[in-house]
Order: sequence, then C-alpha cells, then structure tokens
Amino acid sequence: MAQNVIAIASDHAGFEVKDEVSKLLAELGHEVVDLGSNGPESVDYPDFADAMAMAILDGRASRGILVCGTGIGISIAANRHRHIRAARCCDATDARLARLHNDANVLVLGSRTSGWETARDCVLAFLNTEFEGGRHQRRIDKMS
Ligand code: RB5
Repeated sequence: MAQNVIAIASDHAGFEVKDEVSKLLAELGHEVVDLGSNGPESVDYPDFADAMAMAILDGRASRGILVCGTGIGISIAANRHRHIRAARCCDATDARLARLHNDANVLVLGSRTSGWETARDCVLAFLNTEFEGGRHQRRIDKMS
C-alpha cells in the first residue's frame, strides 16, 4: 500500500475545496493522487466516491479525502464499499474522533457547509491522529 499517499476526489460542488486540500497536502509533503473532478460542469458524486474506493482498494493510496456540496451524498456513496470508512466531518473534533475511534480511512468535507479554516483543521486532525485500536478494533471488525 502506498503509505503517505492521499487520494482526493470531489464532484463539481467540491472541486475548489479539493484543489485547496491538494495544495495543503503538497505543502505537508504528501504525495497526492487527484481523481477529479476538475471544473464546475455537473458530474455525479457516486462516480467519484467509487473512484476513491478503487484507489484505496488497489493500493494507489492509503487514505482519501472526498468533497461534495454537503459531504453527505459522497459519504453515503463511499460507505457502500465495505473497505471504506468515510467520515463526514464538520469540525476538527469530528475528524480526530473519526480516526481515534472509527479508523476512518476517508475524510469527507462539505464545500457548502464548512469554511476553509474549518476544512483545513479537519484535514490536519485527520492526518495527525492515529487509530486507538483496542475495543474500537472489535467494532471495526464487525463492519468488515
Ligand atoms: C450537487 O449539487 C450536490 O447535490 C452534491 O454536491 C452534494 O451536496 C450531495 O450530497
């Protein structure tokens, strides 16, 4: 698996935030796999959630970040894949706990619901928090 490689994807509502996330990840020294979309023309968020699921399944990336307007549709779509634990996060506490307790492998942001400062805090918490394991592992195993 490509440790430290982060895949990013969004629909048309999220591509600007995705591009900001891409810049931030590069500044932090992460290799980024950008799965699109890349402009304002209307696309369907399930296609980008599926592309993320494939990138993690085939080992091109170890974790991912998804963006749509609310983060809701793309997280529902991503979580249809059994190996994906996608957490839609509204603040850094969500993102920290999603890693600590849920071993989330995909962070989901809403471009229309979170400002950039909040989104940035979510990304940093997601990247910098390790899974706690222990009793949480048992619960993860029941979903795998
Ligand atoms: C696209 O207009 C919008 O529906 C989508 O980005 C997302 O918010 C869906 O959950």
